[in-house]
Amino acid sequence: MALEERTYERILRKQEALDQLRPFNQGALHKLQETFRVDMTYNSNAIEGNSLSLSETKLVLEEGLTIGGKTFKEHLEVTNHAKAIDFVESLVNKKEIVEIDVLNIHALVLDRINPENAGFYRIGGVRISGTDYIPPSTAKVPHLMKEIYRLLNIKSGEPIETAAIIHQKFVDIHPFIDGNGRTARLLLNLYLMRNGYPPVIILQVERKKYIRTIMQSRMENNITVFANFVAKAVERSLDIYLDSLGTESKEYLTLAEAAKISRNGYSGEYLSLLARTGKIGAIKFGRNWKITKEALSEYEIMNERRRD
Ligand SMILES: Nc1ncnc2c1ncn2[C@@H]1O[C@H](COP(=O)(O)OP(=O)(O)OP(=O)(O)O)[C@@H](O)[C@H]1O
Ligand SMILES: [Mg+2]
Repeated sequence: MALEERTYERILRKQEALDQLRPFNQGALHKLQETFRVDMTYNSNAIEGNSLSLSETKLVLEEGLTIGGKTFKEHLEVTNHAKAIDFVESLVNKKEIVEIDVLNIHALVLDRINPENAGFYRIGGVRISGTDYIPPSTAKVPHLMKEIYRLLNIKSGEPIETAAIIHQKFVDIHPFIDGNGRTARLLLNLYLMRNGYPPVIILQVERKKYIRTIMQSRMENNITVFANFVAKAVERSLDIYLDSLGTESKEYLTLAEAAKISRNGYSGEYLSLLARTGKIGAIKFGRNWKITKEALSEYEIMNERRRD
């Protein structure tokens, strides 16, 4: 298996913990899904270059507002992406995923932005900015895409790995003239959700790593690095689901709260630095870092030892 064992074990444990919480509190679940819809739209569009902030994206989606100084196209990217998520959710329990489903996702992503190409494979070559990689010729696209439709329906194997393979093969084919990244991230989520996992958000702040792992997996012809990148995103989602739907919610402290109980007197700012540089086991919920008491004391003890 491509997934790092320790991460995978933690994911299984968290999946089990989440299952224990079923049936979910419907109010909390609904709120969580709405947050994901906004966060996913913001992040996926920001990766693509859309300049709306998270709070502006929220205003557009939840209040139907327009943001001064932003183009109509950027607004369409927001509303289109949210509609595409809704459509993907409607496919979660469908018996079989077929070509037209994927074309329809793409049609929603580029709806009224690029009407000639929305929902159609490209009819010319495409370049991916920032790389030398040249995707296959147009004549090969429909045939290569058959493998994507086959993979979208397989039930064997580890779902995180298969989801990563689907995303990888899709971006390598680059079947559309534009909107490939956004569609790929939606397909990644479609497969995960169809196989019992929560949806994931690839964060704008990790864009560089996202692209790097895609390129590395292609060069090595091995999904391992990208699959582990996806696994991290799955674990983050599971943490958020557990935090919002379960009793575990009290377990997480904001960094300001953690600073108050820090035995070494770490400040919130210092903990934030440790979190951002990945030195401490903190997790980002939306825009806020949180940490468990256990992870805090684990770090403090480790550091005390180092000093002795
Ligand atoms: N070297 C690469 N090889 C294959 N795929 C890549 C490479 N670099 C980036 N990608 C993928 O291609 C996407 C960009 O393609 P495209 O511009 O068609 O999609 P988009 O939705 O408009 O933009 P974005 O994906 O940035 O949101 C990236 O998001 C990523 O998923
Ligand atoms: Mg693009």
